Amino acid sequence: MAEEEQRPWLSAELNNMADEISVIGPGHMGIGITQVFLQVGYNVVLVGRSRESLDKGMERLKTSMGKAIKKGSLNEKEAEKMLNALHLSSDYHDIAGSILIIEAVSENFDIKTDVLKNAEAHANNTAIIATNTSSIPIHKLGNGLKNRERFLGMHFFNPVPVMKPIELIISKETSEQAISDVKNIIDKLGKTPVMVNDYPGFIANRILMPFINEAIIALENGAADKEGIDTIAKLGFNHPMGPLELADFIGLDVCKDIMDSIYMETGNAKFIPSELLSRLVKEGKLGRKSGEGFYIYKK
Ligand SMILES: NC(=O)c1ccc[n+]([C@@H]2O[C@H](COP(=O)([O-])OP(=O)(O)OC[C@H]3O[C@@H](n4cnc5c(N)ncnc54)[C@H](O)[C@@H]3O)[C@@H](O)[C@H]2O)c1
Repeated sequence: MAEEEQRPWLSAELNNMADEISVIGPGHMGIGITQVFLQVGYNVVLVGRSRESLDKGMERLKTSMGKAIKKGSLNEKEAEKMLNALHLSSDYHDIAGSILIIEAVSENFDIKTDVLKNAEAHANNTAIIATNTSSIPIHKLGNGLKNRERFLGMHFFNPVPVMKPIELIISKETSEQAISDVKNIIDKLGKTPVMVNDYPGFIANRILMPFINEAIIALENGAADKEGIDTIAKLGFNHPMGPLELADFIGLDVCKDIMDSIYMETGNAKFIPSELLSRLVKEGKLGRKSGEGFYIYKK
């Protein structure tokens, strides 16, 4: 790489590699993460387990980019450039040239462990591997990895193109160099890294999930209707969305998985998902993504 192309903000190992990252899991979060990296000029390899999941992800990406074009924050030429820098794949060999690999698959320990091991087996040995887990302890996810110095949590917020913070969760084994590299990459995204320790639910979800769950219990108890509960939070707490709207937006399955995982770690009853939440998930009412949760959405 020529002198003038050096990127002094990255460690020497990463500096020799192209500006390419990989995202594994073309769901809600994976697509948002893909979009923000494409927007700042990275090449992105998006890995899905099937053609169908990748096609679904692409549809979501194009819709989101279309909204940005309408708002004027993106133009057609930039959008075309972004799509040209995106490579869709179901083959882990394609992640070998990436400096950073972000796992964003379903919030399930076994699935994530499998994906992370596979990612490490195919990644360049200088690459950083990150998980976007909402709640599973980083040290547990890292247990199956050989190179834990370059493994950490990058918890993006939803919707990724809009939300600024990224919880940076490190384990005792994460190296200073990896932390510094990731902080610098986050800086290029125009986002704000917040260092948090490896506690169940980290910071965001240990606060947010009991709040959402309590709102669901209030609905279940008949304390108010859904609009009433959401209006109190919007007008009374100045939240942009009420807790029930937010749960639909996050995905009710994701909320339940997060609560189950924090409860398993802490044994604290305040993290037991409410009966109504569990029932809706069982019925396939997952919120916006399925067309119905607490509210009904047009497809
Ligand atoms: N939804 C949120 O608001 C939010 C916010 C922050 C973090 N997260 C976390 O991000 C992760 C993904 O959540 P999401 O909301 O995008 O879920 P989602 O259900 O929208 O997407 C999950 C994706 O993972 C894919 N997947 C599942 N198993 C896979 C495998 N073995 N290989 C490749 N892909 C696989 C699915 O096909 C799907 O595309 C979870 O860990 C979640 O806790 C979610």
